[in-house]
Amino acid sequence: MSPREVERVREIQGDFADVKLPELPAVPGMIKPSEARYLYWLASTEYLGHGAVVELGSFLGASATHLAAGLRDGGLGGELHCFDRFLWDRDHAAKFDLGIEVGEDYRAHFEQNVRRVYDGVRAHSVELSELTWDRGPVELLFVDAPKKFAELEATLTAFSPHLEPDQALLAFQDFAHAPSYAVALVIAGLGEPLELKHVVAGGSTASFLLREPLPHDARAWRELDFSRWTRTRMIDAFEGLAARIRLDDVRRKLAPGLAMALWDVGAKNEALARVRALDFDEPLQRHWQRMAGGPLYERYDGLFLARGFTRPAPRGNALTRFVRGLLGGKPGE
Ligand SMILES: C[S@@+](CC[C@H](N)C(=O)[O-])C[C@H]1O[C@@H](n2cnc3c(N)ncnc32)[C@H](O)[C@@H]1O
Repeated sequence: MSPREVERVREIQGDFADVKLPELPAVPGMIKPSEARYLYWLASTEYLGHGAVVELGSFLGASATHLAAGLRDGGLGGELHCFDRFLWDRDHAAKFDLGIEVGEDYRAHFEQNVRRVYDGVRAHSVELSELTWDRGPVELLFVDAPKKFAELEATLTAFSPHLEPDQALLAFQDFAHAPSYAVALVIAGLGEPLELKHVVAGGSTASFLLREPLPHDARAWRELDFSRWTRTRMIDAFEGLAARIRLDDVRRKLAPGLAMALWDVGAKNEALARVRALDFDEPLQRHWQRMAGGPLYERYDGLFLARGFTRPAPRGNALTRFVRGLLGGKPGE
């Protein structure tokens, strides 16, 4: 076994603070600093060179830049294939100013950001539902777009025939993002073939080493569809996986996902009881406050209210804030 293969056997749950990043261009993105360090470390020291590195969900290239720099510095080369629809949407426009219109293609921005780091990057403009792959084994699959069962099913359908046991590592950026609970449930449903390897503190990424081939057929995917499971199975699967997370911040972030899953299948009382019993620390409190201001509030209003989060009123202009002030409301209320 090479030193990299030996290293692969270790389970690491931490913030990867000892990873020294090279100088890299600043790229706007949605990953946390600990996740950036992790991705660089993964591609530079864990990658064995047995297959391609694939990223699903690239946005402007923040995560891709770190994977790309890792491949560049790791000495094994390797191609990085990045899949995204690369179309600027309202959510992007609300958070970032790229000077382009909603609906415009931003792939050229992605390519410009990542190519200056490494030229082995290939961008693919595609909808997740249309994913296909015919370029041989995939060794690192970084998943940062599929969040719902159908998208995860499309991902597994396209890639599972190309994932080799003991070599392929699957990293899920949304693992601990509670509204993306489908990621955890599908991983739990796959069971034994996926061995927990890395959990990134301060972020929501967890990675799994493939130990046995994944099933390829539609019947197996139907089995994974947790909306058909009993509630007990759903709870046991989620809690069994969550119990393996030792990092408090990640476990706390993930936990409300089960309440959201139960809410979505109509088990509202059980969902409410669970969300009330959760341990919310200060960062999670802030995270939920931010979520309460977005589209998730409509869907999970009961859960937000049960934790005391109301939808923040629109900020309004200076005049409405002045009038509200006269009437006794707080600014921004
Ligand atoms: C969370 S962002 C990725 C963030 C990125 N990894 C980073 O480091 O900043 C998710 C990306 O997935 C893409 N995406 C979401 N749903 C998609 C779909 N159905 N098909 C293709 N791309 C999709 C979005 O365009 C977006 O760029």
